Amino acid sequence: MRYIFLATILSGLLILGMFGLRGHKFNETPVEIFPDMDRQDRINAQSRSDFFADGAGSRKPVNGTVPIGFSIPEVAANEGDAILDGFSLTGSYFNSGQMGDYFGDGMPVEIKANKAFLIRGKERYGIYCAICHADSGNGNGPVRSFGPNGGQIPIANLHDAKFSDPSNSEYRPDGEMFSIITKGRGLMGPYGGTIPAKDRWAIIAYLRVLQDAKISAAEQKDKEEAKESEKVSTEQT
Ligand code: HEC
Repeated sequence: MRYIFLATILSGLLILGMFGLRGHKFNETPVEIFPDMDRQDRINAQSRSDFFADGAGSRKPVNGTVPIGFSIPEVAANEGDAILDGFSLTGSYFNSGQMGDYFGDGMPVEIKANKAFLIRGKERYGIYCAICHADSGNGNGPVRSFGPNGGQIPIANLHDAKFSDPSNSEYRPDGEMFSIITKGRGLMGPYGGTIPAKDRWAIIAYLRVLQDAKISAAEQKDKEEAKESEKVSTEQT
């Protein structure tokens, strides 16, 4: 019995001696039963490497590589305001939503607003905006049920007159919408770094279609109701 006791203590000390206490600092590589890929061959930035034929550790991007979200510009940057189908560039209406000091309205001339463009906008709206503003644009997206105040986050209803009715004094023209998406506003964060400029315009084009659909559905309903009440009043006479 005594030997078993001693053997247990000794083997305990042996294990402790091999692995050390938790948090103990070693100079030597500790015994690793599962190395967890802690140590791997690598190349330090800007250093030599014999692995590649040219001896350079840092590699060049493959020929023709374009940064994510960009396409190859049609105009060279030194030939005026290049239309980069990319992220933020100040200058033209296409890239800023502004004409001088003012927000412009309508799609930039560089945009061909055809069916494919609207489909693209619908898809991008679904990816980036619907989570908060909902598929319908009424601001009741899934995010509405989270957060403080029992989820009463004031997410804008994009069918409000100030977003959909050009005769409203607070109406946000297309250029301002572009700026809201690019830079964010109030509680809403910026999407200029995530959504390429052309896609921001596509989202706006789709949003306008969504607003028009809501308005014409409401008008249709009004017409039907008017007809209905006309019918009722003629029946009464
Ligand atoms: C994470 C949630 C969230 C996402 C995603 C989001 N928004 Fe918003 N958005 C908000 C909130 C919240 C407000 C209200 C901001 C405020 O009034 O403080 C708002 C406001 C707006 C407004 C009105 C701003 C104003 O002038 O009052 C517009 C337009 C808008 N969003 C468009 C978009 C579009 C287009 C997208 C997709 C690219 C988008 N939002 C994505 C949360 C979001």
